[in-house]
Amino acid sequence: MITSRSTYRQGFDPVSIKADFPILNREINGRRLVYLDNAATTQKPITVIEATRRFYTRYNANVHRGLHTLAEEATAALEAARREVAAFIGGVKTEEVIFTRGATESINLVAYAWGQHNVKAGDRIVLTQMEHHANLVPWIALAKRTGAELAYIPIDDNGYLVLDRLSEIISSKTKIVAVTHMSNVLGTINPIETIIEAAHARRALALIDAAQSMPHMPVDVRSLGADFVAFSAHKMLGPTGIGVLYGKESILADMEPFNYGGEMIGEVTYDHADWASLPWKFEAGTPNIAGAAAFTPALDYLEKLGMDNVRRHEHELTEYAIERLSLLDSIRILGPLNADHRGGAISFVDKDVHPHDLSQILDQHGVAIRAGHHCAQPLHRRLGLVSSARASFYVYNTRGDVDQLVYALKEARGYFGHE
Ligand SMILES: Cc1ncc(COP(=O)(O)O)c(C=O)c1O
Repeated sequence: MITSRSTYRQGFDPVSIKADFPILNREINGRRLVYLDNAATTQKPITVIEATRRFYTRYNANVHRGLHTLAEEATAALEAARREVAAFIGGVKTEEVIFTRGATESINLVAYAWGQHNVKAGDRIVLTQMEHHANLVPWIALAKRTGAELAYIPIDDNGYLVLDRLSEIISSKTKIVAVTHMSNVLGTINPIETIIEAAHARRALALIDAAQSMPHMPVDVRSLGADFVAFSAHKMLGPTGIGVLYGKESILADMEPFNYGGEMIGEVTYDHADWASLPWKFEAGTPNIAGAAAFTPALDYLEKLGMDNVRRHEHELTEYAIERLSLLDSIRILGPLNADHRGGAISFVDKDVHPHDLSQILDQHGVAIRAGHHCAQPLHRRLGLVSSARASFYVYNTRGDVDQLVYALKEARGYFGHE
C-alpha cells in the first residue's frame, strides 16, 4: 500500500538508497560500478528481488481461474498491483489500468485496437520529431495500413518542441496525437498539457508516452486529461516484461480487443465469443503475475521516497552534470541545458571520440553508459548525428557518480591521444 511521503532533506539520501540495490555493490573491471544507463533500464531494490522470489517459493499459480489457495493469492497479488498502479498515476479506476509487456506493447495496443477502427485514409496522425521508435513505428505501420498521413511537431536546435504552428499541424483531420512526455535522448520535458488541449480542441485523442517521465517525476494522468498513457515497470525499479496502458474507460469500452484467447472472454461457443469486462478484455492469456507481484514493491519504494523528491534529486544531479560536462570543450550536450526543462537523461557527443569508443573506455572505469541511436534514428538524423553517448540518472546516483563519469571521459580522450 501507499506509505507516507518523506521530505527531501529528511529522507532522500542516495548513498543509503544505494545500499538497497545489491547489484550496485558490484565491481566492474576492478572499479566500483557507476550505473548510468537508467533510461534503458533501472536496477532493482532488494524488496523487488525478494518479491519475485516470494512469488515463486510461496504462491506461484495461474490467476482468475483457480479456486485453490495459491490461485487466490496469485490473483490477489495481480489485482493489488493494479490498484497500486491506479493510485500511483493519479487515482484512476482499476478498469483503466491494463497490464502489458511494456510501453512498446501499450502503444501497439492502441495503434491496433483503436487505430484500426478509428483511423482511415486521409486522416492524420500527429507525432513529434523526438519520438522513440516505440512511439513512431506503430504509427508508421498504422498509416501504411490505413492510408492515413503522418505529421510531426518539429524541434529546434536546442531540443525543444516548436509549437508555433501547433493548431495547423494538429489539423481538423487529426485523429490522434502521440507524444513523449520526456525525451529519452534530449531529456526534454514537453509541454504535454498544451498539446493535449490542442488535440482535444480538434476532437483528436492524445496518447502520452510516459516511459521516461513516470519513473522520474509526479505524473497525474487524471489532471493531465490524456486519453492514453504508456509506461514500463523496468524503468521504475520494477521487473522487465510488465508495463501499463492507462486508457480512459469510455474509450477502452468502445475498443475491440488487441489479442484474443483465454482470460479475455465472457462467453464462448464454437462460432461466437464475447469479451470480458475492463480491464481483462485487453489481457489475453496468462499475464506476467510474478512481474505484477514485484511491481508493487517498486511502486512502494518510489512512493516512500516521494516522486517530488525523486524529481528534485535528479534535477540537482542533472544541473551538476551539465555544469561539469560543459567544462569539457570537446563535449556537445544534446537537448536543453536548463535542468528545469529536462530530466536526467543526458546525451552528448565528443568531437573526437566515437560514442562506442567512449562507452567501452568508460566501462574500463566501471562507468556504464549507453552509446548508439537510443531507438531514435530520425531524431539523431535531425541533429546531424548517427549516434550519441548517453548518461542517465536515477534515485541511487550521486555527485560522486557524475565526477567518475567526467573523470572517465577525460581518460577516454587521453587514451585516444586527445588533450
Ligand atoms: C521514450 C520511450 N518510449 C518507449 C520506450 C519503450 O519502452 P519498452 O522497451 O520498455 O517497451 C522507451 C524505452 O527506452 C523510451 O525511452
